[in-house]
Amino acid sequence: MAEAFDILVIGSGVAGLSVALAAAPRRVAVLSRGAFGEDGSSAWAQGGIAAALGEGDSPALHAADTLAAGQRRNDPEAVARLTEAAPATVRWLDALGARFDRGAHGYALGREAAHAHARIVHARGDATGAEVMRALRAAARAAAHVTVLERRCAFELARAADGRVAGVRAHGPAGVELWRAGAVVLASGGIGAVYRYTTNPAYADGSGLALALAAGAEAADLEFVQFHPTALAPRAGERGQLPLLTEALRGAGAVLLDARGRRFMPALHPDAELAPRDVVARAVWAEGARGGAFLDATRAVGGAFPERFPTVFAACMARGLDPRRDAIPVVPAEHYHMGGVRVDAQARTSLPGLYAVGEVAASGVHGANRLASNSLLEGLAFGRALGERLAQSAPEIAPAVLPGTRDWRPLDAAADAELADLMWRHAALVREARGLQAALAELAALRARLPAAAHGGDRLLLAQRMLQAMLARRESVGAHYRSDAPRAACA
Ligand code: SIN
Repeated sequence: MAEAFDILVIGSGVAGLSVALAAAPRRVAVLSRGAFGEDGSSAWAQGGIAAALGEGDSPALHAADTLAAGQRRNDPEAVARLTEAAPATVRWLDALGARFDRGAHGYALGREAAHAHARIVHARGDATGAEVMRALRAAARAAAHVTVLERRCAFELARAADGRVAGVRAHGPAGVELWRAGAVVLASGGIGAVYRYTTNPAYADGSGLALALAAGAEAADLEFVQFHPTALAPRAGERGQLPLLTEALRGAGAVLLDARGRRFMPALHPDAELAPRDVVARAVWAEGARGGAFLDATRAVGGAFPERFPTVFAACMARGLDPRRDAIPVVPAEHYHMGGVRVDAQARTSLPGLYAVGEVAASGVHGANRLASNSLLEGLAFGRALGERLAQSAPEIAPAVLPGTRDWRPLDAAADAELADLMWRHAALVREARGLQAALAELAALRARLPAAAHGGDRLLLAQRMLQAMLARRESVGAHYRSDAPRAACA
């Protein structure tokens, strides 16, 4: 029997590492899909961490903005917990060694769309995720209670005889491994690779959520998928992860232009380029069909680009585009999944022994549309809180687990592309019943051609559950826009 741990965390982004660090002195294993700390979305995050740290701001005002962005489909109690924990979360990271941008009076607080106050903490301009991950990774490496297991893909939850989740089967460098644990924490991030274009890296493929669904965990809000309005437009034949052009550029005054060089957002929303993310994303999508959309920061940022937005600058220059001089072609791309495994206030899923935190979890904080810079915050704040709880009361490690029932095989490249294409065509920014039904039929045909019970099969199950949730919600609200259904009233 393989080694056993008090806590096993699937995922090595901000949520997983926050659980692991806060759970000391319990013995924690962290399963990382690729090289440690470099495989998930966290390190790519250009937005910052929202926290009411400025004069005149408060957690209640931060909560009000979060509820408004989420169209009040959020859980107000979860939102209050998140926004109240935010200032202490930034200070915790500071104590761990994260270096945030500072001004004369403390943290340099930025303002982003739909925030009524300047409350976004950044690091090196647009490199916040990379800096936070650097600090967490260093702390985890130095922590004697944390073991990192790299290049592992979890594919099945292991059960004890009484039915509770008591470990994980993973594919690792030497084949299938069993890791037993008192508590299993899912912190596997997002679903980007389910769509043709995404701002997420390739390992954010929804397999963590798929594994939980296959085990019978309850899900919530699967239809709420956020698309970022400004990813760098793909070159011919390019697919998968596209570089992000952070919303902070529009916060700094960059404007969106159509193919003839005219601004199109002022006619669509009073807040123009700083309208809610779903509104801007659909407008960019529509302009794409008319000849293209472009982000022009030449006046607003100009020569300060390399210093203020080094990550975006490098991505554009690598494509031969100079954002100091030229408007940059942009498209919307899948960015964040508000839905996921349903959890309660203590991050418990419906399966005893299984917890979930971060993007894979549906904690209720984001509602129908996530407010910018609340995602790193959620992973950090709720991850840390869960780690502290498990440090006090991690369940006993079961002496044995039942035999595994499943095989592991990824989707092959052709099936993977077929899945991402059908989701892009029918289940992206604009949906309607006919298209969603067509997508379900295409998915069923794809499933029928593939061997059952493989890892890839679970990702097909995830797509199926998402499509069914999109069909079931016969209203347009937040990021879920149905061209054949009325817009819901915002309560
Ligand atoms: C961005 O920088 O535009 C993304 C920030 C976020 O998604 O919170």
